[in-house]
Amino acid sequence: MKIAVLNGSPKGKKSATMHYVHYIQKKFPHHELNIIDISQRINRIEKDEKAFREIINNISSSDGVLWATPVYVTLVPSQYKRFIELIFERDGKSVFKNKYAAVLVTSIHFFDHTACNYLNAVCDDLGMNYVGAFSPDMYDLIRRKEQERLVGFTEDFFSAVENGRVTSKHFAPIIYNPISYEPKEVENRLDPGEKKILVLTDDSQPGTNLTKMVDRFKRSYLRSVESVALSDIDIKGGCLGCCQCGLDGVCTYDGKDEFIDFYNSKVKNADILVFAGEIRDRYLSWKWKQFFDRRFFHTHIPSLTGKQIGFIISGPLRRIPNLRQILDAYSEWEQANLVDYITDEYEDSSEIDDLLQSLAERLVECADRHYVKPETFLGHGGRKIFRDDIWGRLRVAFQVDHQYYKKHGLYDFPQSRYKMRFFNWKMMLFTKIPAVRKIFSERCMDEMIRPHRNVISKMDQVSNSMQVNP
Ligand SMILES: Cc1cc2nc3c(=O)[nH]c(=O)nc-3n(C[C@H](O)[C@H](O)[C@H](O)COP(=O)(O)O)c2cc1C
Repeated sequence: MKIAVLNGSPKGKKSATMHYVHYIQKKFPHHELNIIDISQRINRIEKDEKAFREIINNISSSDGVLWATPVYVTLVPSQYKRFIELIFERDGKSVFKNKYAAVLVTSIHFFDHTACNYLNAVCDDLGMNYVGAFSPDMYDLIRRKEQERLVGFTEDFFSAVENGRVTSKHFAPIIYNPISYEPKEVENRLDPGEKKILVLTDDSQPGTNLTKMVDRFKRSYLRSVESVALSDIDIKGGCLGCCQCGLDGVCTYDGKDEFIDFYNSKVKNADILVFAGEIRDRYLSWKWKQFFDRRFFHTHIPSLTGKQIGFIISGPLRRIPNLRQILDAYSEWEQANLVDYITDEYEDSSEIDDLLQSLAERLVECADRHYVKPETFLGHGGRKIFRDDIWGRLRVAFQVDHQYYKKHGLYDFPQSRYKMRFFNWKMMLFTKIPAVRKIFSERCMDEMIRPHRNVISKMDQVSNSMQVNP
């Protein structure tokens, strides 16, 4: 059997993910696995149609495709995303149709599920027979039990190909027929005060829904609002995964392009950020992905604390909850406040006008209140994964993060809460006594809300004393 392995790691042969593939090669020597470096060679693949066609021909003559890639910033690396866009742009779709596919992603399990969902959806869109995904931790390969699992996954994939198994689809095709948005004049312009507002967009072409939405949003304000097209920033390439940033805070692109200066001077200095983009396949454009990947020079340290964020999106966001989850998560682990998403999925231009006006107003009001909503599982759980790894196995590689986490109290392990530990120890002991255990179980519900009741009764006391002494 012949399998085309599409390598998503920008590190090419020095990829952890590829070592999983090498393991498969050793275990199944009678099958042919052809590794094709995609991300590392993306510039060539993009510029040279022949290089792209060679890959397509290789896939065409294969029995199956293994999408093998690291997770970068909750998805695949921007270079890999670009390749996926090229498949659709250059009529490469037909060779994928009815081919068997599996996904192998390595990561530290921070939003690896969103990367898997994305690749699964791409396989469904390409009409492939998607068999399944294998998402190990980057170091699982050194554990015997995990090696066995990898063999199990591979056998399942190969057996599906050999036996021509039927496979299920997990993602409905996307239906998207947008109106041509025609904004009206703005009646009540808003004074944003001294707030710095920055709009970043991946499209500045006149006449598109996105450009018109951005323009309408900007006109909500009394003064001019800065907007920058990602294509106007000199960005030499996607993140290479070298992790220089973690060790000494220096990105390999430092001084070679404009990204870091731009990010530090414009993005980090804004009070309100509006990200505008068009949906391509099941995400935003690869240009946006490049932006999010290159932001990794700031490593696992939040860089937008307290800022207000809005998204203006042209495309079927409502039909891609995976993308919505990624963007929600992004805002949460950046410790910013995501105010709203405005898309062009409405019947009427006036609805979009009203929504953009409302977004403009809420962004300013939330900034005035310094409001940041509480984290959900996405931000809260994600931060704990970073905390554990930076304290542990990633500490040497990410010394910059370690210093930051120490200084900002992010090492909030329960192990170091001695008062709580003593309380727990005492109560565990007491509740071994049947009578105490009975009382505890009877009072459990009341005790759980005792602190809440205290807050409310204190408020009552304050308001009563104000009535007595107005
Ligand atoms: C820029 C960058 C972004 C990353 N983003 C994530 C992420 O969002 N989630 C995660 O679990 N791991 C993330 N990782 C860790 C990689 O997925 C992990 O190290 C992977 O095994 C690397 O595979 P490779 O050596 O094949 O490139 C990131 C690593 C880098 C360099």
